Amino acid sequence: MLLDLYIYPHPILSKVAEPVTEFNKELKTLVEDMAETMYEGLGVGLAAPQVGISKRLFIVDTSTQEEPSTLKVYINPKIILKDDPVVWNEGCLSLPGLYRDVNTFAHVIIEAQDADGNTFREEARELRAVALLHEYSHLDGSVFIDRLAPIKRSLVKKHWAKNVYKSTEKTYKDTKLHCVFE
Ligand code: NI
Repeated sequence: MLLDLYIYPHPILSKVAEPVTEFNKELKTLVEDMAETMYEGLGVGLAAPQVGISKRLFIVDTSTQEEPSTLKVYINPKIILKDDPVVWNEGCLSLPGLYRDVNTFAHVIIEAQDADGNTFREEARELRAVALLHEYSHLDGSVFIDRLAPIKRSLVKKHWAKNVYKSTEKTYKDTKLHCVFE
């Protein structure tokens, strides 16, 4: 089932999300629905707050269409290591059509639980590392434009409010995604 996509600056996107405590069927359904929603929006990652659920989980699939899926869910994640600072052109399903170069890291070690509650570790580089950090920051109530320098950030926020925000439904017009605004 496709889930509603919450669009910046909806307040749920700036909340610190709560830990997941129940590893049940409902959680697995949520993960499946999040995956369907992410693929419909052609995203490489999606965090639960972006579908209106303020819980600490996200999914990532950084494979291209020709490659086998690398879809994984990260529940109650912890960033164990981040290094190799890099500038990356990031975008977000909650800020559709907006891409900016931001500072991030190209090497990450993450620890998280899977949908059964088992803990695992993953070492990631390049796009995978960037996507993990991007999604992780959604759980702490932050979006990628928050990583811009203050002056750039306020310009981008003005540009978003004036030019992009209102055309969001049009951005997703060829998809079945339904957007929730502030
Ligand atoms: Ni995002």
